Amino acid sequence: MRLAYGDDGPGPVVVLLHGFPFDRSMWSAQQAKLGSVYRIIAPDLRGHGQSATTETDFSIDTMADDVVELLDTLQLKEPVVLGGLSMGGYVSLSLITRYPERCRALLLMDTRAGADSPAAALGREQLARTVEASASVAPAAEAMLPKLVSPTTRSRHPEQLDFVRRMIEATPPATVAGALRGMAVRPDQTAALAQIKVPTLVLVGADDIVTPPDESRAMARALPNAQLVIVPEAGHLAPLENSAYTNEAILTFLSKLP
Ligand code: MLT
Repeated sequence: MRLAYGDDGPGPVVVLLHGFPFDRSMWSAQQAKLGSVYRIIAPDLRGHGQSATTETDFSIDTMADDVVELLDTLQLKEPVVLGGLSMGGYVSLSLITRYPERCRALLLMDTRAGADSPAAALGREQLARTVEASASVAPAAEAMLPKLVSPTTRSRHPEQLDFVRRMIEATPPATVAGALRGMAVRPDQTAALAQIKVPTLVLVGADDIVTPPDESRAMARALPNAQLVIVPEAGHLAPLENSAYTNEAILTFLSKLP
């Protein structure tokens, strides 16, 4: 399906995929800083942001196929730098494992390679049913918001939490339920990491309790060509919560790419 997207800046392409259930506006600090050197393409994944849809397939592979379709539409045949946060990271891993020729480097932010545990998958199904039954995303917002940002962000930047709440509340209930189910059945990509040869930046907030730093450490160890950056004073939304540190890490990484 056709995705809404932002496309700004000169130079080599960096594609940024947002997390669940957010939209491309979460990348504004990256667009502002990286966008003077790189061409930042940030889609709204299906059903999110301005990519409204009546589709019901929210599998991670289908979301990755949408991104490939967008690259084709933009006639980007050369490999791009692909980055994703959390669910965007799951989509990135799906894309690079199935279309390795489309990526020259990877940014895996606050994400994991493993699949859901049976308990986590069950929790997602229960939340999906609650969202559907109430025709409201409020239950998802209440479940997620306490876990998303670091104590520092919560006390010093409450406006960031408000911003995140607004993004969640703007997402249609059908998207929230569908994406919960899509994430619940995503495959374990751990074994595939050894085949990902491109330079990879694994970045995680020091206080991320959704995809904790240990998951990122394990990913960085399993990837043949990865470096790990732990972002201080940040939780699950490091690019938003500590954008200065994150942007510096990304710029340093990008500047060393062949
Ligand atoms: C996200 O931020 O995309 C979600 O927390 C991912 C997940 O629930 O696994």
